[in-house]
Amino acid sequence: MQLIDGKEVAAALRREIAAEVEKMVADGGRAPHLVAILVGNDGASQTYVGHKEKCCGEVGFRSTVLRLPEQTTEEELLAEIARLNADDLVDGFIVQLPLPRHISEQRVIEAIDPRKDVDGFHPVNTGRMISSLPSYLPATPDGILSLLRYYRIETAGKHCVVIGRSNIVGRPMANLLSQKGWDCTVTITHSRTRNLKEVVASADIVIAALGKAEFVTADMVKPGAVVIDVGITRVPSDKTKSGWKLLGDVKFDEVAPKCSFITPVPGGVGPMTIISLMKNTLKAARREIYG
Ligand code: GUN
Repeated sequence: MQLIDGKEVAAALRREIAAEVEKMVADGGRAPHLVAILVGNDGASQTYVGHKEKCCGEVGFRSTVLRLPEQTTEEELLAEIARLNADDLVDGFIVQLPLPRHISEQRVIEAIDPRKDVDGFHPVNTGRMISSLPSYLPATPDGILSLLRYYRIETAGKHCVVIGRSNIVGRPMANLLSQKGWDCTVTITHSRTRNLKEVVASADIVIAALGKAEFVTADMVKPGAVVIDVGITRVPSDKTKSGWKLLGDVKFDEVAPKCSFITPVPGGVGPMTIISLMKNTLKAARREIYG
């Protein structure tokens, strides 16, 4: 069994991006500029945006965080988005989710200029992705593809079972792995799937992205399978200083010995998602997708 080290892969890709930025700047260009809009006081969102800001610094990007109060109206947020859409000194921006309940996430996502949508959430980018056109890929699926590439994991002709059908992980992941170049035979499973255990047990590659701690057990995994764990559930723990720990969607201790490759939680898929955001921002600065 080989452990997939997301921290190591993220560090390697971070160095590559930093070298590209250094070259851009040495050639007289300006550093890519990412803006994050953070509305309200959600603790996890503040942490995530902090990590994104730190990573921007490490790769040499300019980063700006716009912190807006919880009571910000949808109209005010849309006005801010319009301003960023028109600002030539902003290459890409994200609106950190979740938003306060009085704001429609869908209206907000659709207000972002697809050319600056470095989260890859706008339906134009989703549609382009499904059509195998250049697009900004959503962070988690793209991060997983980077892990498969880095470890040279064979995917062609393999049966990949994706557990979970979310807009930002399960469905894009299934679509990308079925595309030319990855060439998997893909099954998406979800809460209404019959014989889910048997379907997962037939997989060469399992992507667990349902958000239920330790859902995937050893009896559901074929010997030699590749297991990618997207889950992050916070549970109380008396063994950590913080008082909580993270659990994946896979019961790691019993599943790992059966696998050819497996991602741990934390330290697997998680560190890769910010790298994908950095890759998209670099593409935005280079006008690579839309010209
Ligand atoms: N909230 C949790 N993950 C994400 C993400 O990738 N992008 C945005 N905008 N919000 C998030």
